[in-house]
Amino acid sequence: MSYKNSHDQCSNLDHEQDSEFTRMTDKAVSRRGFLVGTGALSLGAFIGMSPLAQSVQAAMGTEVKSKMIGFKPIAASTADSVVVPEGYNVANLISWGDPIFANAPEFDPSGKAPASTQAQQFGDNTDGMTLFPLSDERAVMAVNNEYTNNDLLFAHKGENMTADDVKKAQNAHGVSVFEIQKTSKGWEVDRSGKLNRRITANTPMELTGPAVGHDLLKTAADAEGKEVLGTFNNCANGETPWGTYLTCEENFHNYFGTADESYVVPVEQKRYGIKPADKRYQWSKFDERFDLAKNPNEPNRHGWVVEIDPMNPEAKPLKRTALGRFKHENAALMIDNSGHVVVYLGDDERGEHLYKFVSKGKYDTSNQANNRDLLVEGTLYVAKFSATEGELKGKGEWIELTFGKHGLTPENGFNSQAEVLIHTRLAATQVGATTMDRPEWVAVHPGKKSAFCTLTNNKNRGKKDNQPVDGPNPRAGNKYGQIIRWMPANADHTSVEFDWDLYVIAGNPTVHKGSLEAGSSNITSENMFNSPDGLGFDKGGRMWIMTDGKYSNKDDFAGMGNNQMLCSDPATGEIHRFLSGPIACEVTGLTFTLDQKTMFVGIQHPGEKGKPSHFPAGGNSKPRSTIVVITREDGGVIGA
Ligand code: FEO
Ligand code: CA
Ligand code: CA
Repeated sequence: MSYKNSHDQCSNLDHEQDSEFTRMTDKAVSRRGFLVGTGALSLGAFIGMSPLAQSVQAAMGTEVKSKMIGFKPIAASTADSVVVPEGYNVANLISWGDPIFANAPEFDPSGKAPASTQAQQFGDNTDGMTLFPLSDERAVMAVNNEYTNNDLLFAHKGENMTADDVKKAQNAHGVSVFEIQKTSKGWEVDRSGKLNRRITANTPMELTGPAVGHDLLKTAADAEGKEVLGTFNNCANGETPWGTYLTCEENFHNYFGTADESYVVPVEQKRYGIKPADKRYQWSKFDERFDLAKNPNEPNRHGWVVEIDPMNPEAKPLKRTALGRFKHENAALMIDNSGHVVVYLGDDERGEHLYKFVSKGKYDTSNQANNRDLLVEGTLYVAKFSATEGELKGKGEWIELTFGKHGLTPENGFNSQAEVLIHTRLAATQVGATTMDRPEWVAVHPGKKSAFCTLTNNKNRGKKDNQPVDGPNPRAGNKYGQIIRWMPANADHTSVEFDWDLYVIAGNPTVHKGSLEAGSSNITSENMFNSPDGLGFDKGGRMWIMTDGKYSNKDDFAGMGNNQMLCSDPATGEIHRFLSGPIACEVTGLTFTLDQKTMFVGIQHPGEKGKPSHFPAGGNSKPRSTIVVITREDGGVIGA
């Protein structure tokens, strides 16, 4: 089956840098008199800017001025359902536990089904996903299954684990690949699809790139350091124009532990949060591979970006060590005008960093087979930001993480490029990278002149010495998050220089007045949200923002409702609420059909931690992570 390329570039997007919003921000920022760049800021420094911010907010309201956004924004919602604008429809595609193979067992809500059942069903906690079109009526969906809600997965709620339970949890992780088809009832899973596949925490995969075979990747089961079992905590994703799927390993540290009291966690592993206690998943108690004392190098084999061929169910997934080891959020891959592959990568932890990979080879438009190894070799960089005095914008540089450069030398504990990549976080600290407010998804504007990253929140900002209040991270104890934008020098994404600004600072303008907690001028009482996380562009250049934040709807978060999805026009800076998720969910994962008339959105962990959700089936049913399908009643382009 041939893969129909869904990555056509848009032609008419050159306005992105000269946008009205950029100019508005410039003016707003200079009049506000932000004091940035030399040490900590007090909130008092921002009080002088509030009148302008308030007046712009009043002017924006719910009125949609953008020419690319055509829906009527929705109000915040606390309902236990997916709410979309008038004229839009929502249907369910697949929920945790639904079969993805013919003859596979149906979902059993009792929590008593064995591990073998889960291996044939959609995993838990749907996250990043990509649709690979085969035709107008058929496509392959590749979806991450990030983690497990043990209180829902097991009848005993995870309190009486067995070896089979651990296997079941491992089978609920990883990636689900399945064909979908358009029927008279809409898009449906084809359980007989030849490409259907479950990739779990036990699927054999190959290590590739500069770290392959290094001693730190060797274990008793793999003396050569070349083959790893499984992928888990697959957060967000990416896709390549040569038709492969990228899945990103995030919080891998939670799956390891040991009962051996003599085991001391080395400093290199502490940086990733590895601890002997294994209370959450308890895999180490029943699977020696996760016992730190028995397999101290196993954690080094996780925390990578994995490339998967969704068109070949037999193909071994490939872990790409050249892209660094950290708590990967997504992999925003683009082909630079030079032909090099550029992948932007966030490391989602308080005070961690933003990265960029540039391939050594160039993309071959004439023969896709020649592109298969482009992620094997290249240069990894980490971002360092500086702020223009008094403004929330400035310059930045990408610092190369290459053995022998910038102090990445034996005197500082780095003996090879493999060690630089296995200990990427330590390397970033060594070169003086900027600590960020939890970099989540990156998205590159289809016009290729700018890129954006959600910095979701960071309670440690301003409270830890290595996380001072600074330009791109301007608020102490940041509870709302912001989206940073950067423009590479000469629109060349391989350049080591860029300009940056803050595209939006989330906040609550009804609770807070006269401080940066109210948010930037494009935040209003009508569109406010917290903790931006998922991020992506459609082909028309609309930017979609998904949230994973506080859904209490009270105090600092009053008026925000449940987690949600918003649509923004980068040319005007407007942001409008498009969707609200059910109770206690996170909205994460986004992909479209080629014609942009169907949007797939992930609803993760409705009813987490025992909250009262019964999404999607209602009644008294168990809440289940679900991919929803959104269309327009008039069959038009989503968002337009
Ligand atoms: Fe899996 Fe950073 O979210
Ligand atoms: Ca996320
Ligand atoms: Ca998040």
